[in-house]
Amino acid sequence: MSTTVSDDSRTNSRIVTAYRQRTPGSAEMSRQAQDLFPSGITHDARNVDPYGIYVARAAGPHKWDVDGNKYIDYFGGHGALILGHNHPKVVAAITEAMQEGSQFGASHPREIGWANAVKRLVPSAERLRFTSSGTEATLMAVRLARAFTGKETLLRFKGHFHGWHDQMANGYSNHYDGTPTPGVLPSVAQKSVLVNPGDIAAVEAALKNNPDICAAILEPTGSSFGQVPLKAEFVQELRRLTTKYGALLIMDEVVTGFRAAPGGAQVAWGITPDLSSWAKILAGGMPGGCVTGRKDILDLLDFTASAKAGREKIGHPGTFNANPVSAAAGIACLTILAETDAVQKASDTAASLRQGLNDVLAEYGLKWSVYGTYSGFHLFVNPKNRDITPHGFDSYAVEMEELKSQPQKLNNRMRIALLVNGVDTNPRIGGLLSASHTAQDVAETVAAWREALKMLKAEGELPN
Ligand SMILES: Cc1ncc(COP(=O)(O)O)c(C=O)c1O
Repeated sequence: MSTTVSDDSRTNSRIVTAYRQRTPGSAEMSRQAQDLFPSGITHDARNVDPYGIYVARAAGPHKWDVDGNKYIDYFGGHGALILGHNHPKVVAAITEAMQEGSQFGASHPREIGWANAVKRLVPSAERLRFTSSGTEATLMAVRLARAFTGKETLLRFKGHFHGWHDQMANGYSNHYDGTPTPGVLPSVAQKSVLVNPGDIAAVEAALKNNPDICAAILEPTGSSFGQVPLKAEFVQELRRLTTKYGALLIMDEVVTGFRAAPGGAQVAWGITPDLSSWAKILAGGMPGGCVTGRKDILDLLDFTASAKAGREKIGHPGTFNANPVSAAAGIACLTILAETDAVQKASDTAASLRQGLNDVLAEYGLKWSVYGTYSGFHLFVNPKNRDITPHGFDSYAVEMEELKSQPQKLNNRMRIALLVNGVDTNPRIGGLLSASHTAQDVAETVAAWREALKMLKAEGELPN
């Protein structure tokens, strides 16, 4: 059993007992998984104590575990599923593509359609290159920025996540002092300057004092889709300063892309980055990513342009680049987003969910809050006991450490309590909505939230 989260495996908790009773199939699979995977899991976010659910199938906003329990899903495929699970048009596109072949080792018509679907929504995409994931997209964006500017240092923001490659490994959940995480060379970690999110004076000082900065990269609406929110004005100012000091601006739209607005945060806020990274929704629920941006920068990947400029081209192989099945899903999904109000619908439903969850927090007299922007929500458990009300909380006025501070035991217990009541959130008790979530899902989630809090209160887990 996994015991690293909060040691809930050895507990008398009624919540955990109820969870075990509902999920014997998941328990058995997690036992098998212990002999296969480190911690028995295949993604760090699945580290639940005593074990996570094993999901058998999903549809729309719902998923069912191997024991037949139904959940309202707010994990949303790590943000990939703005249309919900198995949207019929996406499934039809995937099925058709699959029957025609999954890997041609050649250019194919769907990559043209996919690129055009991106360009239709993203005006800054003068050129693009498909990758297999968001991690690969940010890796390529940084490589392009270094080669284009001839500079080496990257300006990043504490708490911002850009995938798991070496240059992004420190500073998003720990090692905020710039030291390397295990297995990463100190010389690589040293090439990041980490700045507090939202601190524009610190950004300017970093750019001024470090002429070697090739680019600033950020999650435009703030880390974890606005858990630590940023305002448009901050990013607009960042755009101005990067230009002033000769650095590129990379907007990492892996989560915000096609979610904050169909064209991402950059379109929502009218900011033109030099480069952007995209994944998740981009590929309609299938694996895939891309880097987009200025033609003169993407030309570093171009055989002819590089030869003409007398420079060495940046290499870019990748077995599954622009995979035709992902392309089919991406075209279907992005076309729906371009032609319907799906993105707005997800955001509107999220607003009513935040409202309903806060109503329940108020019922319990808790000085906590559910906040968020667009189609996301986050729980703030007020570690410093600020004098706030659930509905009146200003997340922009609170620093990163405080917003991200959530006792692990409480988090885990709350997650289990919600699962027992048929709701799956992310490990921070937040989530992302899709256009398939309905008012009924919201009402059922609010009822489950009330029930979960009741269980937590009975176990003495809530503050008085
Ligand atoms: C903002 C951001 N950038 C990059 C990534 C990495 O994407 P992937 O998981 O596709 O490698 C993620 C993944 O969650 C992300 O949230």
